[in-house]
Amino acid sequence: MTALAVNMPQDAEADSGIDRQIWLLIQRKLVAKALSELAYEEVFIPALLPDKNAWLLTLSSGIRYRFRGVERIWGNISVDPASIERVADDDSAGEINIFRFVADAREEIAMTPADLAWYLRELQNTSIADHQLAILNAGVTTGAMAEMTEIDLQARLEGHPKAVTSKGRIGWGQDDFRAYAPEFGAAFQLVWLAVSQEITKAAHADGFTESELFIDAMDNADAERLHGLLTEKGASTETHALVPVHPWQWDNVISHWFAEDLARNRILYLDAVGDRFLAQPSLRTLTNCSRATRYDIKLSLTILNTSCYRGIPGRYIPVGPRLSDWLENLVAGDPFLSQVHRALVLREVAGSHVENATFKRIEDLPYRYHEGLGVIWRERVDAKLGENERAIMLSALHHSDSDGRPMIAEYIERSGLGPEAWLTKLFDEVTVPLYHFLCRHGVSFIAHGQNISVVLRDWVPAALIVKDFQGDLDLVDRPFEELESLPEDIRRVLPRKRPEVIIHNIQTGHFVTVLRFVSDATEACGLLKESEFYRLLAGRLRAYQRDHPDLKLRFDLLDLFTPKIPRVCLNKARFEIGYADSSQRPTPAVGNDLDNPLYHFDETLAHKV
Ligand SMILES: Nc1ncnc2c1ncn2[C@@H]1O[C@H](COP(=O)(O)OP(=O)(O)O)[C@@H](O)[C@H]1O
Ligand SMILES: [Mg+2]
Repeated sequence: MTALAVNMPQDAEADSGIDRQIWLLIQRKLVAKALSELAYEEVFIPALLPDKNAWLLTLSSGIRYRFRGVERIWGNISVDPASIERVADDDSAGEINIFRFVADAREEIAMTPADLAWYLRELQNTSIADHQLAILNAGVTTGAMAEMTEIDLQARLEGHPKAVTSKGRIGWGQDDFRAYAPEFGAAFQLVWLAVSQEITKAAHADGFTESELFIDAMDNADAERLHGLLTEKGASTETHALVPVHPWQWDNVISHWFAEDLARNRILYLDAVGDRFLAQPSLRTLTNCSRATRYDIKLSLTILNTSCYRGIPGRYIPVGPRLSDWLENLVAGDPFLSQVHRALVLREVAGSHVENATFKRIEDLPYRYHEGLGVIWRERVDAKLGENERAIMLSALHHSDSDGRPMIAEYIERSGLGPEAWLTKLFDEVTVPLYHFLCRHGVSFIAHGQNISVVLRDWVPAALIVKDFQGDLDLVDRPFEELESLPEDIRRVLPRKRPEVIIHNIQTGHFVTVLRFVSDATEACGLLKESEFYRLLAGRLRAYQRDHPDLKLRFDLLDLFTPKIPRVCLNKARFEIGYADSSQRPTPAVGNDLDNPLYHFDETLAHKV
C-alpha cells in the first residue's frame, strides 16, 4: 500500500490554519475509510474488476470511484487512499474529498437534507481534527511512539476505526478544539462547583473520603483556596459537595441548563482551580498531567461524538464503586484471571450525578438533558504496573506511522518474539480472559479498542486491562450462579442480554472492531497472513475450551464458532436514525450475516466437510 507521507516539520505550528497539501492527504484517507467501511456495511457494493485488486464503485448519481484495494478476511476492502480516482462524465472529476463523496453518494446514504447537514458538519469536524493529527504525527516513527507515555500515544490515535465521523464533536468550535482536544495537546484546569448535598447523588468505595478524591486534582494550597471560596459563598462541605466539571460544560451547558439551581444557590460556581488535565481519546476522561495521581476523572460532556451525546447517566452512580469492587474480588477469587493470567480492573472508586431541576420533571426528555452534570473517578493503571511494563490501548496496535508501519510491528520487533508467538500471547492474555469473564462469570465488557488495554512487559503482552463499567458492561440474561454474589440493586441496573446478543461484545467489539484492523495491519506489513492470524486465534480459544471441560455447556451457549455472525453497522445506523433527539441512545443497524473466520479456521470442526 502506498504510504501517505506528510512532509511537515515535527514542530509545525499547531495554529497555522489549514495546510492545503495535508488537507488533500487526509481527505483521501477519509474517502478511503468511507469506501471501505460503507461497502462493508453494504451501503453500496463496489465491483471487483478483472485487473487484480482494482475496484469500481458506481453510485446512483452516475459518479464512479475507481480504486485499488485488497479484500480482507472479514469481507472488508483495505483501500489504498493514493489510488482513488473519481470518474464523472462531465469535467468535475477533480480532487477527492469526503464532502464531495457524500454528495455523490447521496442516494445511497439516503438521509433527509436536515440530517445530511449534521452529517457533513461531523465530517468537517473530523477533517479539522485529522488535519491536526497529521501535523502532530508527521515524521514521528513507531519507534518514537513506542517510547511515549500512554497519554501522549493516545493523543495520536485515529479514533473509532469504523466510524467515518470518528471525531464529530458537534458543539465544539475552533477555540474548543484547541483548548480541549487531545491532538492539540493543550492541558486545562477543571472548573469546580459546590452542589447542594440535597440534589447530589454520590457514592464512593469503602475507605475513601470525598476529600481524598478531590485532593487528587490539586495541591494543598489550591485545596485551601477552593475551601476559602466555598466559605466566602456562605457554604461548607456539610451543605455542599465539591464537584469538578469540564470548562466547556460549565460555559455551554451547566451555566444555562442549571439556571434554576444556580438561582437558588443549590449550585455555586467556585473557580477553575488545581492541576492541569489532558483529554484521552474519549475527550471526557481526563488524566492529570501536573502530577502522577491515582485517578483519572471522567466528566459529562454534552457534545455529540460518534454515536451519542457524552453525558453521565445517574442510574449507575450509586452502584459504580460496589460494582468495581465486586469485579476486583471476582478477579482475585478466580485463579485463571489472577494467577494463570492477569486481569486488571480500573475501578470506578467514586462518582456523583446531579439531576437537572428543570428537566427532571419530564422523564422522557432526550437522554442528554438528564446527563449534563456528572463525574466519575477511575483508577489510573500506572500504580498497578510493574518493572518494564506499559499499558497500551488496543486501538494503538493498528495505528500506523506516516511510513505506514503499524505499532504492532514495532512492539513485536522489540519483544524479540516472532509474530506468531507474540500474537499467541496477545490472544492468551486478552482475548481468552475476555471470553472467560463471559463464560465463567456471565460478565461482558464492550470490548472495543478504547475500552480494553493490554499491558506489555518487555514488549510482550502480559495482562488485560478492563475499564468503563457504567453502560459498557453487560450481564448474561441466564441464571448463572456466579452472578448471585452481585447485589440485587446492582444487577437490576445493569443491562441483561441474551447469549446470542451478549456474545457481540466480543465478536463485534473485539473481533470486528479491533482484530479486523490489527490483522489487516499485520498482513499489509508482511508480518503474518490473515489466514494464519485467525487460525492462531481459533486455536487459542479451542485450547482454552479444552482446558475447561466444566464450562462445556456455557461454550455451547456462548458460541464464537458459528458459521455466520450478524453484521453490526455503525455508520448505517446514523443514516437510518438521523440526528433527531431521542430518550434512548441509538442502537446499531444490522446487515446481512458475516462469514465468521473462526469457523473457517477452526481445525476441530469436523462438520465443515
Ligand atoms: N478506537 C476507538 N474505539 C471506540 N471508541 C473510541 C475509539 N477511539 C476513541 N473513541 C471514542 O471514545 C468515546 C467513548 O468512550 P467513553 O465511554 O466516553 O469514555 P471512557 O471509555 O473513558 O469511559 C467515544 O466518544 C468514541 O468516539
Ligand atoms: Mg469507553
